[in-house]
Amino acid sequence: MSETAKLSYKNETLELDVIEGSEGELGVDISALRAKTGLITLDEGYVNTGSTTSAITFLDGECGILRYRGYPVEELAANCDFVEVSYLLIYDKLPNQAELDDFRKAIRKHTMLHEDMKSFYNGFPRDAHPMAILSSVVGAMSTFYQDALDPSDPDQVNVSIHRLIAKLPTIAAYSHKKSIGQPFMYPSNDLSYCENFLRMMFAVPAEGYTADPDFVKALNLLLIVHADHEQNCSTSTVRMVGSSNANLFASIAAGICALWGPLHGGANEACVAMLEKIREDGSDVEKYVNMAKDKDNNFRLMGFGHRVYKNFDPRATIIKTACDKLLAKLDLDYPLFEIAQKLEYVALNDEYFIKRKLYPNVDFYSGVIYRALGIPVQMFTVLFAMGRLPGWIAHWKEMQASTTKKICRPRQVYTGPTKLNFVPIKDRK
Ligand code: CMC
Repeated sequence: MSETAKLSYKNETLELDVIEGSEGELGVDISALRAKTGLITLDEGYVNTGSTTSAITFLDGECGILRYRGYPVEELAANCDFVEVSYLLIYDKLPNQAELDDFRKAIRKHTMLHEDMKSFYNGFPRDAHPMAILSSVVGAMSTFYQDALDPSDPDQVNVSIHRLIAKLPTIAAYSHKKSIGQPFMYPSNDLSYCENFLRMMFAVPAEGYTADPDFVKALNLLLIVHADHEQNCSTSTVRMVGSSNANLFASIAAGICALWGPLHGGANEACVAMLEKIREDGSDVEKYVNMAKDKDNNFRLMGFGHRVYKNFDPRATIIKTACDKLLAKLDLDYPLFEIAQKLEYVALNDEYFIKRKLYPNVDFYSGVIYRALGIPVQMFTVLFAMGRLPGWIAHWKEMQASTTKKICRPRQVYTGPTKLNFVPIKDRK
């Protein structure tokens, strides 16, 4: 017998099933609430609302735990590359050698963009934000691959998955090349996923290019720690759009838009912009910490705090170690790194941040590493999107396969005017 919770309203008491997850998480099932009582629940920002059951990612914000399909992210980061982790998330198991080889081969087959797609880039302004380009071009994939748009056909879904994973780095790198006026670099299929991306970003046809193995390693790590994070804003967007049976490309394009916001994936870009501002303003870190604490000032320290992690962000811990190593090796004279370190120290030792459990999150350190890798600031969130892609796909696929799938359609408590009589325009004040 599962446990129940009781909800009393007026003279009625309703018994609600309590659902228990595999890690002991409890949720009250309110699916019968409105039908039985006429009530709905109100939960701005879904702070207390589970939108679904899911078997993909477990995270415990209090203990700083993050696991994909049961495997701790630390172990995956130490032992796998991004493509292997993508397979795990999407197909629900660690691949054996043959499965992994096949998956890599399938992805390699699709790395090039349709030549006609390149003409989109001529239409975008030179200073277009690459996240806008990314979502537009991914959305446009549904115009080029009309043979594979049916969410209920596993073969069509599978080829769309390969196309997306293969083409996202190409689409992303082209947006960078467009912004600096350099020729597009075609993908090179004899390279690994991350090497290929770095080459498309930084090589020019006139010269040879070999990616620094430490850069390749750092990029793999960054993509792996971003690969999934259960029901975050962009993943929930992908699920919501997909719940209407919109195709995978359309759903992922929507997720990219959701990720762009500075409170979500855009925080890595916003964080570096903040560090830059502090530097221009005389590197007075204390002043900005005080501004963040001042309730009359809506300034927030970008890269600090998390809705779920209230102890530490395990992704930030992994990246910080890599970040420290990379910075030591590169020995860069880059004032923003110093400001970041000062800010981290002050925030971690200040009562305001300690009391509210505000720790540096993944975006605080990822921005610093991206900068060390030479990735331009506007591309930071694009890198986040490349990392998050397998997670979005896994959630979209899980939802499509669910026997209890419903179109997502929240309710509201209406607070506008009650019925008004129409006023002809001549009588309006
Ligand atoms: N700087 C200063 N104060 C903060 C910050 C911050 N970055 N974040 C939260 N607070 C304070 C907030 O003012 C509130 O104080 P009080 O209790 O006195 O009113 C308290 O901490 C709780 O904040 P909240 O806004 O209720 O927390 P939330 O869970 O709704 O917001 C957050 C989470 C990530 C949106 C928020 O911490 C924030 O805006 N951080 C900066 C943006 C950022 O770094 N986002 C990236 C998140 S990690 C990447 C990802 O997964 O998307």
